[in-house]
Amino acid sequence: MPIKWDDSYSVGIEEIDNQHKKIIKIINQVLEIIEEESLDDNLKTIIKELIDYSNYHFKFEEDYFEKFNYEDKDSHLEKHGEFRAQLMKISQEFKDDKMEAAYQIIDFLENWLIDHINGTDKRYIECFQENGL
Ligand SMILES: [Fe+2]
Repeated sequence: MPIKWDDSYSVGIEEIDNQHKKIIKIINQVLEIIEEESLDDNLKTIIKELIDYSNYHFKFEEDYFEKFNYEDKDSHLEKHGEFRAQLMKISQEFKDDKMEAAYQIIDFLENWLIDHINGTDKRYIECFQENGL
């Protein structure tokens, strides 16, 4: 099932909401390709996009943690590490052509992302807004 953006996921900072929306969109594209079982170069491209864009997004948040001296920085970094590790795993599974394993990982990633936004990301709102974002 594709993920649908819901306004309740908003962290109140437009740029970051847009980045979250884009990650959701890429995850949905991966899901679509898996469901159609159209294993071709498209998939490789989109997985690479998922990895690159997620890294860009995490770094974007992490730079602000640093800049604003965010108190929950360490635990938040750890959580991003989890996601990054799963991304590496999914790219490996696809290389080995293990569709089922890859499907499970992407399923995990979509749930992880929404939980992460609603749980972990929302904790930085106050700090980010106090600092003018
Ligand atoms: Fe985050």
